[in-house]
Amino acid sequence: MSAAAASAGPILAVENLKRHYVTAGFLGRGKYTVKAVDGVSFAIGRGETFGLVGESGSGKSTTGRLVLRLEEPTSGRVRFEGEDISALPQSALKPVRRRMQIVFQDPYAALNPRMTVGNFVGEPLVVHGVAPDREDRMARVAALFRKVGLDPRFVDRYPHQFSGGQRQRVGIARAIALEPSLIVADEPITALDVSIQAQIINLFQDLQEQLGLAYLFIAHDLSMVRYLCHRLAVMWRGRIVELGPTEAIFEDPRHPYTKALLSSVPIPDPDRERNRQRLVFDPDTLRAAPDQPMVEVAAGHFVLA
Ligand SMILES: Nc1ncnc2c1ncn2[C@@H]1O[C@H](COP(=O)(O)OP(=O)(O)OP(=O)(O)O)[C@@H](O)[C@H]1O
Ligand SMILES: [Mg+2]
Repeated sequence: MSAAAASAGPILAVENLKRHYVTAGFLGRGKYTVKAVDGVSFAIGRGETFGLVGESGSGKSTTGRLVLRLEEPTSGRVRFEGEDISALPQSALKPVRRRMQIVFQDPYAALNPRMTVGNFVGEPLVVHGVAPDREDRMARVAALFRKVGLDPRFVDRYPHQFSGGQRQRVGIARAIALEPSLIVADEPITALDVSIQAQIINLFQDLQEQLGLAYLFIAHDLSMVRYLCHRLAVMWRGRIVELGPTEAIFEDPRHPYTKALLSSVPIPDPDRERNRQRLVFDPDTLRAAPDQPMVEVAAGHFVLA
């Protein structure tokens, strides 16, 4: 595919992706299947922020790992920059790994405690042979530090000498070191102090503007998702039950699960908040058959019937 054709389509297209785990039952008796991801489809445009929300265990992180090929799908396809990467052997994934990066929830667990943060940020440049010369590399690392709002004089420090927010900035600097086009961010602000969360969100937005990045943003905090994401998908038990422009979903949720999820968010207007009713979702109302496609209820707004 030519570069022009590739740039016209979505940066990421996930088609009917499934990941089933077969687990031994109680005391090893019998087997049962956990359908962690069970037929998920969505596409992300260049420079777009696409949110993935849903309760704990709904399959959000598994979807993220499948997109990155950190895990193998049971079935389905992942197209990245026009190329079907679900069929590639792990050995052929290196160029893909350069263009698609991850930012983790817990920056401390992601960092290597015995490696200086400068070397940590510069490591992908070594692995991919981008800046083999140390001086050149350290200049690039310093530029990356500035880009994420860290003082480049701190390159020789170790992770424990940083605050949570600073560590997440280090993780982000490493993620953008190879100039990716897509970043999968799995709950990247959940572990941070509330006062720091907005700063990191702003950093994600600034970098998107500067670098034209697309994000797959996995999150719990719905107010943050509303602020940050252009479109979003709501997951429930391994499936997407609703997908559409963020405002359409917040203003006009159609699926009973989405309605229940949104009704749990406090409204910053006292009059409306006083009248807010929390809805309870009854799973038995979900009638959709396993491979049933979603219905488009408004432009770009899809709901599982
Ligand atoms: N390796 C595994 N083996 C068996 N089951 C797994 C495995 N990994 C995940 N699961 C199950 O798959 C389901 C989806 O997990 P996943 O971590 O994707 O959810 P999540 O939406 O990211 O949840 P959270 O909001 O808590 O992070 C869960 O029921 C989980 O227990
Ligand atoms: Mg998760």
